[in-house]
Amino acid sequence: MKEIFTGQVFHRNPKNKYPLAVGGDGPYIIDRDGKRYLDACGGAAVSCLGHSDREVIEAIKAQLDQLPFAHTSFFTNTPMEALACELVERAPAGIDRVYFCSGGSEAVEAALKLARQYFVEIGQPQRRHVIARRQSYHGNTLGALATGGNLWRRKQFEPLLVDVSHVAPCYSYRGMQAGEDDEAYGQRLVRELEEEVQRLGADRVIAFVAETVGGATLGCVTPVPGYFAGVRAVCDKYGVLLILDEVMCGMGRCGTLYACEQEGVAPDLICIGKGLGAGYQPIGALLASAKIYDAVIQGSGFFQHGHTYTGHATACAGALAVQRAVKNRGLLAKVRERGAGFEARLRARFAEHPHVGEIRGRGLFWALELVQERANKRPFDAKRRINARLKLQALENGLMCYPMGGSVDGVTGDHVLLAPPYIITETQLDEAVDKLACSIDQVIAAG
Ligand SMILES: Cc1ncc(COP(=O)(O)O)c(C=O)c1O
Repeated sequence: MKEIFTGQVFHRNPKNKYPLAVGGDGPYIIDRDGKRYLDACGGAAVSCLGHSDREVIEAIKAQLDQLPFAHTSFFTNTPMEALACELVERAPAGIDRVYFCSGGSEAVEAALKLARQYFVEIGQPQRRHVIARRQSYHGNTLGALATGGNLWRRKQFEPLLVDVSHVAPCYSYRGMQAGEDDEAYGQRLVRELEEEVQRLGADRVIAFVAETVGGATLGCVTPVPGYFAGVRAVCDKYGVLLILDEVMCGMGRCGTLYACEQEGVAPDLICIGKGLGAGYQPIGALLASAKIYDAVIQGSGFFQHGHTYTGHATACAGALAVQRAVKNRGLLAKVRERGAGFEARLRARFAEHPHVGEIRGRGLFWALELVQERANKRPFDAKRRINARLKLQALENGLMCYPMGGSVDGVTGDHVLLAPPYIITETQLDEAVDKLACSIDQVIAAG
């Protein structure tokens, strides 16, 4: 297609001047001037296979030749059936069904509705409250936004948001108190959750929603050992459903297909997206336990939900090819191996950096929290817009990274998230770390 700028697009940030992307080459995106950008963040932890995977592209083309789309209120289709099988086979215990949608926010909306419907089906319609965590992100549609605890994203839309209560995230860098170890900290958070369930009413809570590894708002915050086991126990005690949002951290990003495998817990519902289709097709999904599915089937018989593109054949064919590539090419092991190399490089470069407060993450999902002063963890003044400037500076330097602000309290705090593709080489990791270090220093030096 001829390259054009029409001036008619309502861009994400209309004040930005976006380069025109015209090509992909493994982990690189190429603009119309031929400049190459190393994609060290997968856009937003999406592009886990890079930008030119022939197998995935051919699978999508083949599906288009055969059948692009058949509305799923009339028909099922083979890629959707096969993809559901692929996902369930490798899912945590009890997960048995997959409800497809077109992205992460839709997966979260579906989870909230299915969780509520489940309790209606089993004769507990009094359950109406959802508990989530502060400093979380679950998507931008209204239900998902209400569930998320990101202050600035919520602020102007507050009047439209349903009431969700928020407890503390598991964010040890800033949340752990003096004298606490991981275990004591995790238990304190679990007690806070239990107290919130009791405050709302022991039989009135539908679900607790959490990102297994915190993504966009806090930057790759890993839970302390035992935290999710404690959360699961509280949920079980009060009959509350556990919804894990793995839209960003799942699908291999943390080194296992589902991030919660490493926590030893099985949720009732799991939301996935991003790496599911790796950007080759827009797709998300909600995985549900047999308990929930059976309750619906034995009750009203159907989930009162649906979108036009639920189970889109071409989207499912793309995601199926992505998931088979991850499996057949041994990419989960690669994520763990490359991830260890990435961590080592980040620590070698930034452990003593005066403005890097913490280096955290898992697999190929890492973040640096940037601070004014390491000793007292003082964040940069939000007016300096360190995160926004870092994004632009890195792009200028040929690097895609994902900085974000508000890490501390929704307003102040800066971090930069990195989520390179599973196919990245050691040399490309060096390039990513070099360019990131240079970009951070340039931004801080400039003011
Ligand atoms: C944890 C999490 N949940 C949900 C979403 C929303 O996904 P989408 O942007 O595909 O709607 C995101 C997106 O960043 C996410 O990180």
